[in-house]
Amino acid sequence: MDCSTPRCSVWRELVLVVSLLACGIRQSSSQIYIIPDTLVGVEGYRSYLVLGNAPEDAQEYSWHRGANDTEGNMIISYDSTSDSRQYGPMYSGREALSNAGNLLIIRAQLNDTGNYTVRVDAINGTQTATGWLKIQELEIPGISVNTSSVVEDMESVAAVCDTNATNVTWYVDYIPVSSNSRMTVSPDGKTLIIQRFSHSDKPLQCGIEILPEIIQRSEPISLTVFFGPYYVFLWTNPNDFNGVLSAEIGSQVEMECVSYSRPESKYRWMHNGSLLSFSEKNITLLNLTWDQMGRYRCIGENPVTQLTFYQEVQVQAPWRRTIVTKTFTISGTWVVLLILMTVLGGVFFCIILIHTLIKHYSTRSHWGT
Ligand SMILES: *[C@@H]1O[C@H](CO)[C@@H](O)[C@H](O)[C@H]1NC(C)=O
Ligand SMILES: *[C@@H]1O[C@H](CO)[C@@H](O)[C@H](O)[C@H]1NC(C)=O
Ligand SMILES: *[C@@H]1O[C@H](CO)[C@@H](O)[C@H](O)[C@H]1NC(C)=O
Ligand SMILES: *[C@@H]1O[C@H](CO)[C@@H](O)[C@H](O)[C@H]1NC(C)=O
Ligand SMILES: *[C@@H]1O[C@H](CO)[C@@H](O)[C@H](O)[C@H]1NC(C)=O
Ligand SMILES: *[C@@H]1O[C@H](CO)[C@@H](O)[C@H](O)[C@H]1NC(C)=O
Ligand SMILES: *[C@@H]1O[C@H](CO)[C@@H](O)[C@H](O)[C@H]1NC(C)=O
Ligand SMILES: *[C@@H]1O[C@H](CO)[C@@H](O)[C@H](O)[C@H]1NC(C)=O
Ligand SMILES: *[C@@H]1O[C@H](CO)[C@@H](O)[C@H](O)[C@H]1NC(C)=O
Ligand SMILES: *[C@@H]1O[C@H](CO)[C@@H](O)[C@H](O)[C@H]1NC(C)=O
Repeated sequence: MDCSTPRCSVWRELVLVVSLLACGIRQSSSQIYIIPDTLVGVEGYRSYLVLGNAPEDAQEYSWHRGANDTEGNMIISYDSTSDSRQYGPMYSGREALSNAGNLLIIRAQLNDTGNYTVRVDAINGTQTATGWLKIQELEIPGISVNTSSVVEDMESVAAVCDTNATNVTWYVDYIPVSSNSRMTVSPDGKTLIIQRFSHSDKPLQCGIEILPEIIQRSEPISLTVFFGPYYVFLWTNPNDFNGVLSAEIGSQVEMECVSYSRPESKYRWMHNGSLLSFSEKNITLLNLTWDQMGRYRCIGENPVTQLTFYQEVQVQAPWRRTIVTKTFTISGTWVVLLILMTVLGGVFFCIILIHTLIKHYSTRSHWGT
C-alpha cells in the first residue's frame, strides 16, 4: 500500500491510536484496583470494597487499614490454597472477606473512613491497590404534616419531607405512591397532598436515596382519622323479628344501640316520636307496662364527622300474633269436622224429610181412599 498520500497517513495514525488504546487497556487490566463506586458508604449500612481485575492465579488476598500493606495494620486475609482466613490487629469483628477477595464491612461507622489497601499474592507476583473509603453520616429525612387529625373523606392533608436530597419517594401505608387522582406530589418531590384523606392512608413516610438503590425512610407519621358511624345496629333482648319485638306485660326488655365510629358516637332515643331525656347506648325496661310499648328509635351521631344513623324497633304485646295463630289452628282442624258434620247433618235431614214425606203421603192416600 502506498502511504505517501495524506489520507493514508490519517489511517496510520488512527491504527496507532487504537493499538495504543488496546495496549493501555491490557496494561491496566493486569493491575488490580478497588472499584471506585464502592468507596462511599453510609453510617449503619454495609459497605463493600470490591476488588477489580483480580488475577486468576491469585493465592492470597489481604486487606489493610492505611496506605500500605504491613502486618501491623492487617484486617483480614484469605488464603485460597488452604481456604483459610486470618485476622489481623485491625480486625474489628465487623469485617468479612469473600473468596473473590472483596471486603465487606457491616454496620459501617464514621471512623471506618480512611485508606484501605488490598494486597494480592499470585504465582506471577504481588500487587497492591489503595483506596479512600468515605463513610457518610446517615441522613434520616424528617417529616411533618399540617394537621394532627382529620375527618375521613372530607379533609385534605399536606405532608412535607424535610431534606435537601433531590430524590424523594413517598409512602402511604408503607407502599410507595406517586401523583394520582387523590394525591399530588410537588415538582420538587418534597410535598405530598392527599385529598379526602381516608382511614387506610396511614402512616405517611418519605424516603431519600442515600446510596444507589438504598432508600432511607423517615419515621412513619400517623394522623388521627375521625370516621363513621357507617351504620347503627339495634340489638334487643328478647330478639326482635323484622323490627317487631313481642314482649309480655311485666317482662324485661333490653335494647342496645351499637355503632362503630371515632370518636365514639353520642346516642339519643325516641319513643313514639318524642325524644327521651336519656343519652346512654342502652335502655332496660325492667317491668314492661302498656305505656312503655310502642316505637323506639335509637340515634347514633358522631359529633365530629356529624354523621347520623338510626334504627327502629316496635315493642308490642304478643297477643296479636298468638290470636292469629290460634284462629288458624282452629280453622285447620275444625273446618274438616264442620264440613263433615254439615254433610252428615244434611244427609240425616234428607232422610228424615223423605221419611216424613212418605209417611205423610201414605197417610193422605189412606184418607183419600
Ligand atoms: C503469568 O505471567 C505470564 C508472563 O508474564 C503470562 O504468560 C501468564 O499468562 C500469567 N499467568 C496468569 C495466570 O496470569
Ligand atoms: C505504613 O503507613 C503508615 C501510615 O499509614 C506509616 O506510618 C508507616 O510508616 C507505613 N509503613 C511502611 C512500612 O510503609
Ligand atoms: C491515604 O493514602 C493516600 C495515598 O494513597 C495518602 O496521600 C493520604 O495521606 C492517606 N491518608 C491518610 C489519612 O492516611
Ligand atoms: C469508632 O467509633 C465508635 C463509635 O462510633 C467507637 O466505639 C470506636 O471505638 C471507634 N473506633 C476507633 C478505632 O476509633
Ligand atoms: C393542610 O393542607 C391541605 C392542602 O393544602 C389543606 O387543604 C388543609 O386545609 C390544610 N389543613 C390545615 C389544618 O391547615
Ligand atoms: C439543607 O441545606 C441548608 C443549607 O445548605 C441547611 O441549612 C439545612 O440544615 C439543610 N437541611 C437538611 C435537612 O439537611
Ligand atoms: C429517583 O430514584 C428512582 C429510584 O431510585 C429513579 O428511578 C429515579 O430516576 C430517580 N430520579 C431522580 C430525579 O434522580
Ligand atoms: C347498659 O348496659 C350496661 C352493661 O351492658 C349496664 O351496666 C347498664 O346498667 C345499662 N344501662 C341501662 C340504662 O340499662
Ligand atoms: C310490675 O309492675 C306491676 C304493676 O306496676 C306490679 O304489680 C308487679 O309486681 C311488678 N312486677 C315486678 C316483677 O316488679
Ligand atoms: C306508645 O304507643 C303505644 C302504641 O303503639 C302505646 O301502647 C303506648 O302507650 C304509647 N306510649 C306513650 C308513652 O306514648
